[in-house]
Amino acid sequence: MGHILDIKIIPTSEEIVMEENDFIVSRTDVKGRISYGNEIFIRFSGFEEEDLIGQPHNIIRHPDMPRAVYRFMWQRLQAKQEFFGIVKNLCKSGAYYWTFASVKPSYQEGELNGYYSIRRKPSAEIVRTMTALYKQMIEEEARHSSSKASMDASFKLLTDLLAKQDISYDEFVYTHA
Ligand SMILES: Cc1cc2nc3c(=O)[nH]c(=O)nc-3n(C[C@H](O)[C@H](O)[C@H](O)COP(=O)(O)O)c2cc1C
Repeated sequence: MGHILDIKIIPTSEEIVMEENDFIVSRTDVKGRISYGNEIFIRFSGFEEEDLIGQPHNIIRHPDMPRAVYRFMWQRLQAKQEFFGIVKNLCKSGAYYWTFASVKPSYQEGELNGYYSIRRKPSAEIVRTMTALYKQMIEEEARHSSSKASMDASFKLLTDLLAKQDISYDEFVYTHA
């Protein structure tokens, strides 16, 4: 294993689109390393199952995703809450796919034993909105030298959009996704 992390994937403009009834499922251990992926998760990734298991979930991270989104995701999970989000992922080929993702902590006898995620096809409308917003967020992140300042400023673009629409983050994602 390990060695596949050394592969530098060059993102391309090829999009793979989820079908209406597709559910992409993955699980991780408490450290965010992939412990399970359903057949479609593996197919979309383009990796072999044995190459994915044990790898950090950021193996499919797309560079067009703002860091602030993942910081928010982990804040939610650490607060024992579910995270919803519109997530663009990277395939081994460099292609990408958009998902409407939910990520949740999983417990056994009250003890955290990992996390899991279920993703379905997002609406074309929210993909358009998030493509534009994430682009601005990434530009904002590049403008600051400290990591915290950059993520705070980036996340503010998202919260400002929500404030303008007078809607909570979850409502926003849910009603548009
Ligand atoms: C259950 C679960 C599912 C996740 N799914 C994804 C995913 O589909 N795509 C992704 O980029 N990150 C996903 N993550 C988040 C990654 O662990 C990581 O935080 C993120 O890719 C940012 O990586 P970075 O901090 O190295 O930039 C998931 C995490 C968990 C716990």
